[in-house]
Amino acid sequence: MYDLFINTGKELGHINPEIQGHFSEHLGRCIYEGIYVGEDSTIPNTNGIRNDVVEALKEMKIPVLRWPGGCFADEYHWKDGIGPKESRKKMINTNWGGVTEDNSFGTHEFMNLAEQLGCKTYINGNVGSGTVREMSEWVEYMTFDGVSPMADLRRANGREKPWTVDYFAVGNETWGCGGNMVPEYYANLYKQYQTFIKNYNSDKKIKKLAVGPSDKDYNWTETLLHECFRQQGTFPQNFGYMDGLTLHYYTLPYDWDHKGSATKFNEKEWYMTLAKSLVMEEYIKKHSAIMDRYDPDCRIGLMIDEWGAWYDVEEGTNPGFLYQQNTIRDALIAAINLNMFNKHCNRVKMANIAQLVNVLQAVILTEGDKMIKTPTYHIFKMFSCHQDGTLLESSVNTTRIGLEDEYMVPNLSESVSKDSEGKIHITLANLSCTDAYEVAGNLMGEEIKSFKASVVGGKMDAHNTFDEPSVVEEKVFDDIKVDGSKIMFKIPASSVIHIEAVI
Ligand code: AHR
Repeated sequence: MYDLFINTGKELGHINPEIQGHFSEHLGRCIYEGIYVGEDSTIPNTNGIRNDVVEALKEMKIPVLRWPGGCFADEYHWKDGIGPKESRKKMINTNWGGVTEDNSFGTHEFMNLAEQLGCKTYINGNVGSGTVREMSEWVEYMTFDGVSPMADLRRANGREKPWTVDYFAVGNETWGCGGNMVPEYYANLYKQYQTFIKNYNSDKKIKKLAVGPSDKDYNWTETLLHECFRQQGTFPQNFGYMDGLTLHYYTLPYDWDHKGSATKFNEKEWYMTLAKSLVMEEYIKKHSAIMDRYDPDCRIGLMIDEWGAWYDVEEGTNPGFLYQQNTIRDALIAAINLNMFNKHCNRVKMANIAQLVNVLQAVILTEGDKMIKTPTYHIFKMFSCHQDGTLLESSVNTTRIGLEDEYMVPNLSESVSKDSEGKIHITLANLSCTDAYEVAGNLMGEEIKSFKASVVGGKMDAHNTFDEPSVVEEKVFDDIKVDGSKIMFKIPASSVIHIEAVI
């Protein structure tokens, strides 16, 4: 029997909805085909954007979307993607398969997508091959309401009112595809570029993000923060010049040369993959510890704007398109990471799984006019109950499970929040691919008046296909007993449960 304790009287922090954010890059079939099919397509669309995809993402409560990259961001010149489509410049997408990018999806189309989704916007600027002026003008184009060259150009292109840019990142992976810089050099560029990201609307301040580290590059975090904090001097409003610092970490079962298959894996690989995904917690803690020294009040968010599973591409697909299937193993990866982000909600203010449609750990896959929701989709929809909630103190006793010492994992992962109506939301994941566990939840004296529960689970490699789209779905879970403030149930192997309790 495993005891799950929930202290409803101990509130630990606010869960920013953006913790459940997403990322869409001009990569493979993410933007083109996956999201944007053009107005003349026979696939039902609104302004060229697929209706089925928008409907599914709204149902999942997508809170924020990052665009246009990724590595693509540092070779993207936004002016190529505005104005009449027939005269937009064509370019080579050098990072992703060397395909021709016709720029038919640009700023107006992205902002329209965000409007249709009702989500916040996260724009990633170009430092690697762009200029300060180019970046500054993009922000003016998108957000300035008065008379100016860029605002007038926007109007000439059919958009009278400015849009809201919620987050703006100054480059992407500037230690790698974004320019191969050392942190000292990027710190100077960051301070320079961000100076010209103007806030034209004081009610809707753009949150500026600096490129942070990849996994365990603590030197990057330390150096960047040192450089950004050392000269704020008489201008305390320039708090490190940033609202967020990004972190990238991907889960690979093996390594970059041989990542492993998305669907064909054994029990050993199941635990290896989950163990590697759980390393995220070490990175969050250690980068946060550095941030705490500069920013003890957590004014700057750790923005994990690329995370998720990265496998070998599906057989017969373009290696540059990063198309992979998605199984119950991915559902577990999503659940354990989202539980982890909840637990670190005071520092982790945004996270964007890579990527939205048809790329890496996608929530949606498409094939022509068909669309399927992946196991990861069902976890995001399930966890949307935590958005804007208050994290409650909770814990579960666990045992270490696995087949190899190096890759042992705890058998259970949980987090608990309270929503604005006072309902309690428990999300619990069972990391064992063979064993179910009896769990006794204890709300420590709070009587449970009513409850409901759901489960996403199945065989470890279960997945949805275009022929069988409903193998994995969120289902009602009714094998639960409640007695006063106690909840008793048995969590099936390789599954994730959500319990909503009214107290
Ligand atoms: O998500 C795929 C790629 O991974 C992104 O373009 C890049 O930022 C990262 O290396």
